[in-house]
Amino acid sequence: MTQTIAEIIPRFAHLSDWDDATLMDVIRHARRLKKMQFRKPVASGKMLGLIFFNPSLRTRISFETAAVHLGAGTSIIQPGQGVWSFETQTGVIMDGDCAEHLKEAVQVISRYVDVIGVRAFSAMQSLKEDLEDRLLQDIVRYATVPVINMESAREHPCQALADGLTMLEHLEEKTKNRKFVLSWAPHPKPLPMAVPNSALEIAARLGMNVTLACPPKMTLPDAMLENVRSHASKNGSQLSIEHDQKEAFRDADIIYGKSWAAPLAYNDPDAESKLRTETCSNWTITRDLMSITKNAAFMHCLPVRRNVVVSDDVLDGSDAIHVDQAENRLHVQKAVLMKLMGLSS
Ligand code: CP
Repeated sequence: MTQTIAEIIPRFAHLSDWDDATLMDVIRHARRLKKMQFRKPVASGKMLGLIFFNPSLRTRISFETAAVHLGAGTSIIQPGQGVWSFETQTGVIMDGDCAEHLKEAVQVISRYVDVIGVRAFSAMQSLKEDLEDRLLQDIVRYATVPVINMESAREHPCQALADGLTMLEHLEEKTKNRKFVLSWAPHPKPLPMAVPNSALEIAARLGMNVTLACPPKMTLPDAMLENVRSHASKNGSQLSIEHDQKEAFRDADIIYGKSWAAPLAYNDPDAESKLRTETCSNWTITRDLMSITKNAAFMHCLPVRRNVVVSDDVLDGSDAIHVDQAENRLHVQKAVLMKLMGLSS
């Protein structure tokens, strides 16, 4: 069977692009790069095109820094801000604000750069399209160079690699059958499901027993849970869903705090907003909750809203490893870039 260009080009669009052994190789390579404080111009003359449809602090700066450490250049592309706005729908009459179609834009950027990174959050319009990761899939199809997902509607795989590295470091490589709890937390805005989805998957792929702690109507879509369950089962662990936050925290080794919108946000945003801000407002992660755990470490992908998602005394406590987690974005992304560009240290 003939392969398309998109099938031949290496990419890191989804965690599923790499099997467990490859993911572990990349994470362990990142750990070595971190220990070496690796800075060598192995990618001299290479260029990264980083497309940001949405804001970023960590992803943007860690990719730019990784590129400098490897000797590569970067071009930051923010559609509608200094470059044309991109039309992302197919088959539309482009008589509105967007002067450029994603199809030409990605093909042209591919002629200039060696790797494309893309951040394109969910627009919370269609759960089906988000589960298919339609926009990211289109970009992968149009690109003729490797694509890295810098957070899409469905996944944040670079964050997941950094999460994996952070847990391996913190648990001294002994992740098998340790208890990982992803705890839903309150937030004034409906947030996408990419980070929680990827955090659950990487924990399952590290062989951890994974607990999803959330109010009943905040449970993630079945397709995401099935994927996590299948990875857990392959790695000798399991996924549990717990609607009692205190029960979930019992004996946990890792507490990962995160808010996300209930799937209800796609068809009834007002009801979802009421549910999230009124009914579930007592899910803030506090020191009292952390005291139920087995001296668990606290993780969060950041940015985090203090005293809404998690209390000051947790974030400022010695068991919070969220800043180490953010630092690890730099090291894993160096390893991802080196893998996709075929470079060795
Ligand atoms: N965690 C994360 O992706 O942070 P930014 O949104 O700041 O890039």
